[in-house]
Amino acid sequence: MRTPTVVPATVTPVASMPERVTIYEVGPRDGLQNEKALVPTEVKAEFVRRLLAAGLPVVEATSFVHPRWVPQLADAAELMGLLGAAGRDCPVLVPNERGLDRALELGVRHIAIFGSATETFAQKNLNRSLDEQFAMFEPTVRRAREHGLDVRAYVSMCFGDPWEGPVPVAQVVEVGKRLFDLGASQLSLGDTIGVGTAGHVSALVRAFVEAGMGTDQLAMHFHDTYGQALANTYAALQSGITTYDASAGGLGGCPYAKSATGNLATEDLVWMLRGLGIETGVELEEVAAASVWMAGHLGRPSPSAVVRALAPASAGDAAGGAAQSGA
Ligand code: HMG
Ligand code: MG
Repeated sequence: MRTPTVVPATVTPVASMPERVTIYEVGPRDGLQNEKALVPTEVKAEFVRRLLAAGLPVVEATSFVHPRWVPQLADAAELMGLLGAAGRDCPVLVPNERGLDRALELGVRHIAIFGSATETFAQKNLNRSLDEQFAMFEPTVRRAREHGLDVRAYVSMCFGDPWEGPVPVAQVVEVGKRLFDLGASQLSLGDTIGVGTAGHVSALVRAFVEAGMGTDQLAMHFHDTYGQALANTYAALQSGITTYDASAGGLGGCPYAKSATGNLATEDLVWMLRGLGIETGVELEEVAAASVWMAGHLGRPSPSAVVRALAPASAGDAAGGAAQSGA
């Protein structure tokens, strides 16, 4: 009897889609910041190495935030030490000048600031008002640029906020542009709690373009809470966006937004892009293997449909049989 094999997606390009996109991997940062158990630093380092080896062009490694606010990433300096030269090209989150000083000491070359489109989340995530966040970021970005660092800016709660409800597009554009204009090279639009839908994505991108931003300056950061991340990516592709944040195995969430669950899984994204004939340079099977390996350390299977489809048996073994059955 023939053994069933994985049937590859039939490549069927769609007119007016980009030929190539950049996947900005956030698993080691957005994924692991939300884990209950502390993951050993050497395991994190090996996760980053495996993701780089799988061809991911950008792997965000960790955060230089207050260790009391995100204890899961309190080992940022040790992790960067373990990663050595490879780590210096991995972006890290930096909220303020103290975080920048810590990153500069280690020779980091790419940082990301992270602002909020809403008042409540600015308070909860940054301990600042919406306006005060700019006063915190301004000297941080200025000094980073003086040191020759590349700066990405995130804006969170672009589609909805668990405390404030729907967030007006105009408000997101105003905050996003203000963050970008501090001196960032890219603005990543975060659907932190995953409530966005495809039409909303198109409208938001259109509004940023009408406000003078290029689609090449924007990235999309989808969480998959309501299962909309791929549909939203498709809408963003049609709008011309060429950078997508994703997390290996679908790890993720935000400790300061309880309704945030996993990010769009890198494997789900690569599967769809492969089918569309869009180049990423990423080896799908290698990312999935890294996710299965990580699932083994976390003690539960990956939530990614593609990871499960590609390696159901090994995913179960790695994560333990009980975890695979949902226990
Ligand atoms: P604060 O308590 O207001 O800090 O926190 P402060 O400026 O008042 O300083 C208080 C003390 O903390 C001082 O020490 C500082 O030196 C120290 P003291 O003088 O009392 O001994 N301190 C620091 N120590 C180490 N590293 C630092 C640092 N900063 C101050 N960087 C702060 C303000 C911004 C630091 C805090 O709110 C914080 O760390 N927040 C981070 C929250 C976070 O990481 N959230 C998750 C990431 S965002 C996200 O996931 C969303 C995203 O994925 C996109 C999306 O999905 O939408 C990006
Ligand atoms: Mg996020």
